[in-house]
Amino acid sequence: MSTHSPPPAARHLLKPMHIRGLTLPDRILMAPLAGYGNLPYRIICWRYGRPALLATEMISARGLRQGGPRTTAYLAHSGEEGPVQYQIWGTDPAGLGEATHMAAQAGAAAVDLNCGCPVRKILAGGAGVALMRHPDHIGRCVAVMREATGLPLSVKLRLGPDSRTSTAVDCARAAEDAGADFVTVHGRFGREAYNVPVRAQAIAHVVAAVGIPVVANGDVRDGPSATRLAQASGADAVMVGRACLGNPWAFARIRCELAGGSWSGPTPQERARTLLDNFSLLADFMGEARAVRHVRKLAAFYSKSVQGAREFREGLSRCTTARSFVDHVHAHFHVGSIHDRDTSTRKTPSAGGILHGQLS
Ligand SMILES: Cc1cc2nc3c(=O)[nH]c(=O)nc-3n(C[C@H](O)[C@H](O)[C@H](O)COP(=O)(O)O)c2cc1C
Repeated sequence: MSTHSPPPAARHLLKPMHIRGLTLPDRILMAPLAGYGNLPYRIICWRYGRPALLATEMISARGLRQGGPRTTAYLAHSGEEGPVQYQIWGTDPAGLGEATHMAAQAGAAAVDLNCGCPVRKILAGGAGVALMRHPDHIGRCVAVMREATGLPLSVKLRLGPDSRTSTAVDCARAAEDAGADFVTVHGRFGREAYNVPVRAQAIAHVVAAVGIPVVANGDVRDGPSATRLAQASGADAVMVGRACLGNPWAFARIRCELAGGSWSGPTPQERARTLLDNFSLLADFMGEARAVRHVRKLAAFYSKSVQGAREFREGLSRCTTARSFVDHVHAHFHVGSIHDRDTSTRKTPSAGGILHGQLS
């Protein structure tokens, strides 16, 4: 480790956080990521980055009630991952209460209500960030979820439902009054695009308005960006979203840099092995055919900042089978034979499956 000192305010992110019986070792959390935050990817993030709290993809309360296999699969949990926050979306308090109960039964360490999703289909039913038009209703939902579980409970907000309507403070207060243990604030409005800079100052207004911890979210990717957001907002913790896609080391990097270290990052070969590890878990979880389709979009993230990333990404569309995908990774990253790869740097063995037999 080198010895430059980070600004003092950031160091609180390295301290434990206690939330209703749950002790997080630090304050660097994983964000819910629909389409990515499945069980395999959470295991990978846990193995290689150790976020203080993992997150599921958003799960439909109505879907859980209907018991369809696709929605129920989101409840999957494994002893191989760390504490997981289950995020639920919906508008009906009773349904949200039931879903909270189901998440707790499934092994959730915490439960979150989605009040930030800007996808039209979700908004049309009044859920996601549309809930932020009605702080009272958020309060009603949280109250029923509170009754359903003794687990840590939170809401994930944006700054408001649209850029003219700033309701984060009212929504956070309503959640607090109804029994939420913390709130997360993504520092953008409604459907605002990601190229709009995060408004840390607006998150600071929420921090000043409530007595429960506030987690700040938006554009955190390394130690300096975590420090900037935490300092400017005064938040108790930070949450990392896009930066952890194909980059499960993001959390370890932030911890390292906040502690004054310099991060060297994984080698291209380590990236490739982790990608193959990820693929193995995906194949076990969703079957080979779906895993191949899914891993192609994930692989593009893994290859970011690696030499020849463009050629690698272009070749991904031709990978239609597990064999062709694994061969493509090998050819590009020069990983060596999967079967005699060096596993000494890995924290835990692969889940087996595809890398150990099915392909040979
Ligand atoms: C692909 C993708 C999927 C997301 N899915 C969810 C979700 O299911 N629930 C949620 O509350 N936010 C979701 N978000 C928003 C993130 O959790 C996070 O608030 C946002 O990306 C800002 O953080 P970042 O700048 O660190 O990425 C998603 C974002 C992306 C890019």
